[in-house]
Amino acid sequence: MSHVSELDAGGQDTSGDGTDNTSVDQENIAISPEAIKSIERNLAIVIPCMDENVTILEGLLHGIPHDCFVIFISNSNQANYETECESLIKFGKVACRPVLIHHQGDPTFARTFQEAGMSELLQPQVTGIPEGKEHIPRMNNGKGEAMMLGVIIAKLAARKFVGFIDADNRIPGSVLEYCKVYAAGLHYALHHNEHTEQNEHAMVRIKWKSKPKVKNSELVFEEFGRSSRVVNEWMNRLLRVLGDDATPESMITTGNAGEHAMDVDLAFKLRFATGYAVEPFQLIDLWERFSVSNDPSSKPVRILQIETCNPHIHSADRLTGHIPRMQVQGLSTIYHSRCTPSRLKDELRNYMREKLATVVDSTGEPTPPRIYSPLGSFDWKIFAKVGLGKQDLHKE
Ligand code: GDD
Repeated sequence: MSHVSELDAGGQDTSGDGTDNTSVDQENIAISPEAIKSIERNLAIVIPCMDENVTILEGLLHGIPHDCFVIFISNSNQANYETECESLIKFGKVACRPVLIHHQGDPTFARTFQEAGMSELLQPQVTGIPEGKEHIPRMNNGKGEAMMLGVIIAKLAARKFVGFIDADNRIPGSVLEYCKVYAAGLHYALHHNEHTEQNEHAMVRIKWKSKPKVKNSELVFEEFGRSSRVVNEWMNRLLRVLGDDATPESMITTGNAGEHAMDVDLAFKLRFATGYAVEPFQLIDLWERFSVSNDPSSKPVRILQIETCNPHIHSADRLTGHIPRMQVQGLSTIYHSRCTPSRLKDELRNYMREKLATVVDSTGEPTPPRIYSPLGSFDWKIFAKVGLGKQDLHKE
């Protein structure tokens, strides 16, 4: 894991005016503002949103760097969606930048996914529709599904990179930092080994400095969220079993990283899981399918975990009711992985039976996550036909 040591590390000494950052050595890297900007011009930021407070959403938009392309995928109710559209269109006009807004429930997407051969993304057809009424197809609900749609749009809009920011982030400054870190990390991953000419995929996962909580009327800056703590621990146990005891105990600090970015080509190769399994499953999928390959054309994947300076504060509207579900969805990706040996599975099942009894049955075995095939394995170009990815529109 790396850390942000300066939010603004200055320029590089291209002008020779002595303003370069002299702290740079093998341990410390400064990425120039120009390099960051050139990635941002190629970076689409996908915001999945379901019935969030629109004031928070408006604040968050202020934090997304001007050159990034905003793709907003909503699954909100009709009234909230209309308010979101108004806000985003206003933002696009004031800031003079393209903003794409789509609703995940739009039947056009369901039909297009079907045509592309991706029926697995559709909700099952309900039985007993009255005569004369037509079945209206709909994409599955879920944050992971919204992310998949966002990735297709990023590709059609010819962006090379895609990053994700949750719509309930209350600190615009942290949003700005996440986007800068995405750009810095992607630049570093793609350029640090220029001499070997080895081409790599890159993924940047944000580990926030802290996740503040109110405890006994005081703000406590805890290092990990409740779900991350548990999922990271089991991911690390898996890595230690797969590798050897030399693997650091806390190698993985970003198992649940809702904030992450990658090159679009990698996003097309990865399999997405539904719901809160989406981020932990990215790591499992990489270990399962990318760690061993006989295909000489396959590229290695560099994963950067970067700790930011800002705290992560998100909306508390949903409180904590979904935390056990989030933990089980994350742990189920480990439990059902073919990489996980049976002894570790037994231990994990016992853990879930004991600690997460409200979400798993009496055996402790979690439901397997729904996993979609990679976007690249479908005829995704069909989406161009419905005008997706056009930048000259503020709203489609
Ligand atoms: N479009 C869309 N569709 N968006 C959704 C849906 C959906 O079905 N469900 C949730 N979202 C949006 C929410 O509005 C929010 O912006 C974001 O996805 C995250 O969902 P939350 O339910 O608020 O999750 P969380 O904030 O508790 O957890 C986040 O952080 C975890 C790490 O701590 C998520 O990013 C998790 O995926 C992550 O593991």
